[in-house]
Amino acid sequence: MSQLKNDRYLRALQCQPTDYTPIWMMRQAGRYLPEYRQLRAKSGNFMTMCQTPELACEATLQPLKRFDLDAAIIFSDILTIPDAMGFGLYFGASEGPKFTKSISCLSDIKQLPIPDPMQSLKYVMDAISLTKKELNGKVPLIGFSGSPWTLATYMIEGGSSKTFTKIKKMLYDEPQALHLLLEKLAHSVALYLNAQIQSGAQSIMIFDTWGGVLSHQSYQTFSLDYMQLVLSQLKQGKKSEDITSYIPVTLFTKGGGLWLDSIINTGCDAVGVDWTVNLSQITQKGKIAVQGNLEPCVLYAGKQVIESNVEVVLNEFGHHNGHIFNLGHGIQQDIPVENVQHLIEAVHRQSKRFYHD
Ligand code: CP3
Repeated sequence: MSQLKNDRYLRALQCQPTDYTPIWMMRQAGRYLPEYRQLRAKSGNFMTMCQTPELACEATLQPLKRFDLDAAIIFSDILTIPDAMGFGLYFGASEGPKFTKSISCLSDIKQLPIPDPMQSLKYVMDAISLTKKELNGKVPLIGFSGSPWTLATYMIEGGSSKTFTKIKKMLYDEPQALHLLLEKLAHSVALYLNAQIQSGAQSIMIFDTWGGVLSHQSYQTFSLDYMQLVLSQLKQGKKSEDITSYIPVTLFTKGGGLWLDSIINTGCDAVGVDWTVNLSQITQKGKIAVQGNLEPCVLYAGKQVIESNVEVVLNEFGHHNGHIFNLGHGIQQDIPVENVQHLIEAVHRQSKRFYHD
């Protein structure tokens, strides 16, 4: 029915049985791969890679050529939306993301445009269509966005932050300004993700990398409510015999382990969890898909340590449908490539014993 040669990832997202546990890795296309470093050097800079569909496609496919991964994620960045709003995103030599423009008050926020994804973000759509064609049904292609809250942190702080002082000051002192920004971002994210779906993305992941720095009350009001607003606007299609007719959505809040019940209540299809969560304590397994949650630093160790940590994660999840193996966060750039190879083999091999029918 579906034209996919490997539909394990989409089946797991819909809590249907698979013969083994599918795996993909956050930041699977990145600097730990020598061929990525080469392509990056040739391209000049990271944004050129994102904005040139042929380069973005090549980077997306690099880890798939090396490893038996069960999904591809389009090579791009969550900060494409602020960039399209006119923030001038750039990456210095070895620093994190930076913007040429910043915002600090309500009138700045009022003036922000909602980007038309088919104009200023068309390069992402072109990269998705090209990559989907090149994949030729090998594995599903994941589209993604940052959550409104996580995007707002970069826009208000002017880049990465350890303390989130500026945005938290706004949260407590000028909440209506922050709400207006989050509303605009939710609208922009929904348009962006629907355009990705239209261009061929087969599942959607929302990265809420910084939701975990909020208090539980603020998490609900300033992050989760806006992810729910995005979710309610997505054109997910309908579930049918053809697994590809429905676009599942995964919400990942790093540090959100204490709030899984509220996250699940949004009606998302899957929750991404970091390594602080014990998967055996998630009571809704089998009804909602779970993505995670190996601590990425395990990959610095040797094969035996990788084997035993994979076993722990698989055992904690247990005999249920709906597990997508992943790291609890993105892979670090100095992880040995052969350990990644071993991880993927170990997950596929060990997980077979959990599926009998
Ligand atoms: O997962 C994938 O392989 C797809 C590509 C992808 C990138 N960024 C490529 C990238 C995805 C899904 C992202 C998401 C992203 N970007 C997030 C959310 C996920 C997470 O890690 O929490 C965030 C917070 C960002 C913002 C961002 N982009 C930062 C903080 C950095 C610098 C970090 C670093 O490692 O230097 C980036 C740059 C970036 N995005 C790189 C890659 C491969 C490194 C760029 C380079 O080649 O120098």
